Amino acid sequence: DWSLQDILEEQVQLIKEMAGTEDHAICALSGGVDSTVAATLVYKAIGDRLHCVFVDNGLLRYKERERVMNMFSSDLHLPVTCVDASEQFLTKLKGVEDPEKKRKIIGSEFIAVFDEFSSKLAIELGRKPTFLVQGTLYPDVIESCPPPGSGKTLSHTIKSHHNVGGLPKDMKLKLLEPLKWLFKDEVRELGKLLQVPQGFLKRHPFPGPGLAVRILGDVTQGEALDTLRLADEIFISAIKEAGLYDEIWQAFAVYLPVKTVGVQGDRRTHSHAVALRAIVSEDGMTADWYHFNPTFLAEVSAKICNTVRGINRVVYDITSKPPSTVEWE
Ligand code: XMP
Repeated sequence: DWSLQDILEEQVQLIKEMAGTEDHAICALSGGVDSTVAATLVYKAIGDRLHCVFVDNGLLRYKERERVMNMFSSDLHLPVTCVDASEQFLTKLKGVEDPEKKRKIIGSEFIAVFDEFSSKLAIELGRKPTFLVQGTLYPDVIESCPPPGSGKTLSHTIKSHHNVGGLPKDMKLKLLEPLKWLFKDEVRELGKLLQVPQGFLKRHPFPGPGLAVRILGDVTQGEALDTLRLADEIFISAIKEAGLYDEIWQAFAVYLPVKTVGVQGDRRTHSHAVALRAIVSEDGMTADWYHFNPTFLAEVSAKICNTVRGINRVVYDITSKPPSTVEWE
């Protein structure tokens, strides 16, 4: 009877054997649960021969870079290089409105940054890293190569680009995927055994392209990014204070590129609107909108309009998936 403790020890042992005393590994940390747990496990096996990079693409949430970098160093003691590539990403995204184009640009910029990181590292080390650590989970594996006879076709693998195959193919690195046989709840358990903070393990999923899919249209329009960060932070903090965070699958604010008329103080305003979305779901494939108490929504709406400049209207999304998707783009 295998416990997760056994699996953990077995994986650490296996990686030790594979990596010997010389081999190095690199890992891109997204700030999410899977890559963090994978890296923490590999660190247990090879210590400072693991080299992690966290890329700030300019599309992160309120204080997210500080918060995750602090956890990586203070709680997990992981060797992480933070690359601030926000200018680079935002320059490439200027004027781009099409959601799929935005995703493509973000994907290829990420590869460029990661490539540069690994080339520099190879020079520093005087040798190329041997392994690439990825936080691939069992469901990602099944989705990206449906078992024969499962009745699944390529169209079922649509989500695979989110997590699998997003990294350079010509790097000739061997993959280390220590979570490949686990489901999400098992990864959280494993994270607990590895002393990853509980609050972090319960974090809602966050898309790779970040706030770019939560600002409809051009991400670089005016103050959109900063405005959205503040509105989102108010919403999420209120959810946490009300003790509702763990029963919600995902919650966030969306910046709408429309201006509507309002009256604030004794002035008429012509400002942007934000939409709030919160859903319950088992796996993100189907979802229902979360039925908040109206008083809760009223308070969040008032707080956003009173404190976030440039917002004079808040709407709540009451659509399930299907027909809507979780994200607005
Ligand atoms: P949708 O919007 O497709 O979202 O109903 C389902 C889940 O996937 C997340 N999502 C993404 N994750 N890259 C990601 O890493 C993406 O491009 C992306 N688009 C959506 C979404 O947040 C939800 O959890």
